[in-house]
Amino acid sequence: MLSFSAEQRFIVTGASSGIGEGVALLLNDLGATVIGIGRDQHRLEDMRARSKYPDHVFLERKNLVEDIPGLPGYVRALKEKYGKFQGLAYCAGLGGLMPLRAVDYENMQAMFAVNYFAPVFMAKGFADKRNNNGSGSAMVFIASRGGVRTDPGMTSYAGSKGALIATMQSIAKELAPTGLRVNCVSPALIQTAMADETSRQYAEGKYPMGLGKVSDVANMIIYLLAEQSHWISGQNYVIDCGMV
Ligand SMILES: NC(=O)c1ccc[n+]([C@@H]2O[C@H](COP(=O)([O-])OP(=O)(O)OC[C@H]3O[C@@H](n4cnc5c(N)ncnc54)[C@H](OP(=O)(O)O)[C@@H]3O)[C@@H](O)[C@H]2O)c1
Repeated sequence: MLSFSAEQRFIVTGASSGIGEGVALLLNDLGATVIGIGRDQHRLEDMRARSKYPDHVFLERKNLVEDIPGLPGYVRALKEKYGKFQGLAYCAGLGGLMPLRAVDYENMQAMFAVNYFAPVFMAKGFADKRNNNGSGSAMVFIASRGGVRTDPGMTSYAGSKGALIATMQSIAKELAPTGLRVNCVSPALIQTAMADETSRQYAEGKYPMGLGKVSDVANMIIYLLAEQSHWISGQNYVIDCGMV
């Protein structure tokens, strides 16, 4: 059984919805302190209201793309406020299908901003030794099955997630001598707000075990953040009930 102490603080982005909310609640349930980041204050508060130990859930309203180069400084400011961090779960993201003929630069930039540039600069902030607990600290980034084995209409999304996977493997090797671990989790369709009706219809019949649930991804992320996975780094775990 995995467990954490309240002195172990985790930053969770995307904590106001879907997988990030599930990760925040599960971490808290297992004893950790969570700093939950999102843009929607109401949904962040709703997450805290449903947590087991609300005194150990802190909320930060933040648009992660408003000042991407400033994100390392933002992590530093969070550390000054709460103390050093044991882990980072980057679960914020933007989805959406778009055929090549409709792809435009602005849309691509928006997707890469939150799916690729922001996680890289959050990783830079977390990896600063002034901000983490040193050896044993861990980062997990949600990429997507689409970043590995993709489908039509995913030019922007698949590109942003594939880039994230490749970059995190490089960062994992760079940080290995410090004992910091970095991994990606790449789910197929999970039942959250992001999985709209079109995606659900597309996935119909393709998933022999049915669509994925938030807990299917959250449990894997928690394991990768925990001490029990201390020899696992630089990996990308596809979670898709074996459909690849
Ligand atoms: N659901 C799936 O089928 C699926 C499959 C593969 C991969 N993924 C990936 O899993 C991650 C989580 O997705 P989800 O399904 O949980 O989606 P979701 O329910 O729509 O949640 C997305 C989260 O990202 C946050 N977010 C988006 N843009 C942000 C920004 N600029 N600044 C700060 N926070 C921002 C949202 O915050 P607010 O709501 O507060 O704005 C929300 O908490 C994403 O990276 C997604 O690509 C999802």
